Amino acid sequence: MKIDGKAYRSIWAEDDGKTVSIIDQTRMPHSFVTHQLTTLEDAAIAIRDMQVRGAPLIGATAAYGVAIAMRKDPSSRMLGDSYDLLHATRPTAINLRWALDETANLLRPLPEAERADAAWAHAARICEEDVETNHAIGKHGLGLIKEIAAKKAPGEPISILTHCNAGWLATVDWGTATSPVYQAHDLGLPVHVWVDETRPRNQGASLTAWELGRHGVNHTLIVDNAGGHVMQHGMVDLCIVGSDRTTASGDVCNKIGTYLKALAARDNGVPFYVALPSTTVDWTVDDGIREIPIEQRDGTEISWMPGKDAQGQETSVLICPEDTPVANYAFDVTPSHLMSGLITERGICEASKAGLAGLFPEKAKAA
Ligand code: MRU
Repeated sequence: MKIDGKAYRSIWAEDDGKTVSIIDQTRMPHSFVTHQLTTLEDAAIAIRDMQVRGAPLIGATAAYGVAIAMRKDPSSRMLGDSYDLLHATRPTAINLRWALDETANLLRPLPEAERADAAWAHAARICEEDVETNHAIGKHGLGLIKEIAAKKAPGEPISILTHCNAGWLATVDWGTATSPVYQAHDLGLPVHVWVDETRPRNQGASLTAWELGRHGVNHTLIVDNAGGHVMQHGMVDLCIVGSDRTTASGDVCNKIGTYLKALAARDNGVPFYVALPSTTVDWTVDDGIREIPIEQRDGTEISWMPGKDAQGQETSVLICPEDTPVANYAFDVTPSHLMSGLITERGICEASKAGLAGLFPEKAKAA
């Protein structure tokens, strides 16, 4: 998508065939800094420390991490070690395991001399497919926005609530939840986005608000607890969120707080959709609440709040008594029965085993 008129992706390979560039999302929104990943460890740190984050982008970065490792040492031992190191970086988003499995399965049978080039080409393909997939998700989601627009007076805004950042910064481009929004905006439909701040890491405030603003999409930041209120007062036409892992039966694990938004949407008759690429489906898992590992992160993400002070200095402040015990659950699971549907690259389906299997019969069968 565009930053002040210039097209960007969230990750790109440099021409030297051994360096990958990323936008350091831990510095946003106050600084726009790019980093060069030149070692396997750089890639692992970028994922673990959330310089890159969002399920699809984590997968793409992992694929490039293996490619970087193969350039230095294409041995099977290094292939195994790089898989293990990258796989251990974050536990919840399934795209990480998907991208690593795809890459390892491709490379293992190849002679060592061919592995590096094959890994680079494969990582580039994962990125291109992610862009196409998210564009297709946007096309299907756009239909929902058009249906709502058709029932409104000309020019009346269509209000969409989203949680966390499932935008282009969480993918290679377009985003998942934001892709229908960008496509509607680009067509001239008057979309407005309610952006949940998304404590504790504020991906909504620092990333979604930033990218929507840079693309010129009308939006308003709200605290996480305001979602129910704006829905109760008829100010939300549609909720669209992303997914870190979707079970074969349609449960969705996404950023902590998603579940509460789905409950509020159900209580207020607001359609609640999850936009997801099929790479986010874990076909081996059915019961999201019991089977998906939920990442628990450092408590300082809750007790310390980063930002910019009145003098323009980036800083962090402690917002609770110094030794307060903190539990930092990063994700929650929204059961399928609370969703109006899943927006995938192949179309919109019911959030259910039958719905997903109907769109992806070959994957459901293979699992
Ligand atoms: O902890 P994060 O920032 O990696 O969590 C990201 C999310 O929860 C997104 O909503 C999800 O990955 C979907 S991104 C297209």
